[in-house]
Amino acid sequence: MQKVIPAILTADPADLRGKLEILKGHTNWVHIDIMDGYFVPNNSVSIFELSGVYEVFNLEFHLMVLEPEKYFRDCDEVGAKRVIFHYEASQSIDTVLEKAHQCQFHIGMALNPETTVEKVQPYLSQVDSALCMGIDPGFQGKEFIPDTMQKIPQIRFQRRDILVGMDGGVKEENIRDIFAAGADYAVVGSGIWKSHDPADSLKKLQEIVQ
Ligand code: DX5
Ligand code: ZN
Repeated sequence: MQKVIPAILTADPADLRGKLEILKGHTNWVHIDIMDGYFVPNNSVSIFELSGVYEVFNLEFHLMVLEPEKYFRDCDEVGAKRVIFHYEASQSIDTVLEKAHQCQFHIGMALNPETTVEKVQPYLSQVDSALCMGIDPGFQGKEFIPDTMQKIPQIRFQRRDILVGMDGGVKEENIRDIFAAGADYAVVGSGIWKSHDPADSLKKLQEIVQ
């Protein structure tokens, strides 16, 4: 498993293509943030902007949307490897999981900072991964909430073989602690895109946690 995955959060298809170009040859995985303007107050490119990209990168879609199951077919069509829905985005997690299990991709569940492991515990046996949000979702560049790290070992305690990630606010100064808490991977946005050389920043973060 690749330990540091770059995140692209944009509503501009040209920006998306530019960032994918920068990442070519530097990562096997990319994390694409998809937003609907309802679950979070921001919008993104559509899933179909990623058509064909599966040939170059493994695609992880992070669906910050209501009714995530309505996006699953599109994710499957563009060859998603992993699709993450939010626990908070649905009235019926059972429906979401049932639809997800009809698809080819691995399914992950994201937890907003205020969502406890106790709440999601009944579903952990039905997902391939769990993604702890280190920030309130919707934007890049927000400050990491350290308390969210406690959930990593709590999830691991519930299910030893689950993949656990951390997304939001991950930087050079906290990435060691996140892995020390037991994370399998971390998603990084502004930590690379705000630097002069994003590919080099990604490499440095990867080296820290190797
Ligand atoms: C936040 C997104 C994150 C974001 C990460 O809503 O889900 O994936 O792109 O960006 P940083 O690392 O800047 O928090
Ligand atoms: Zn994300």
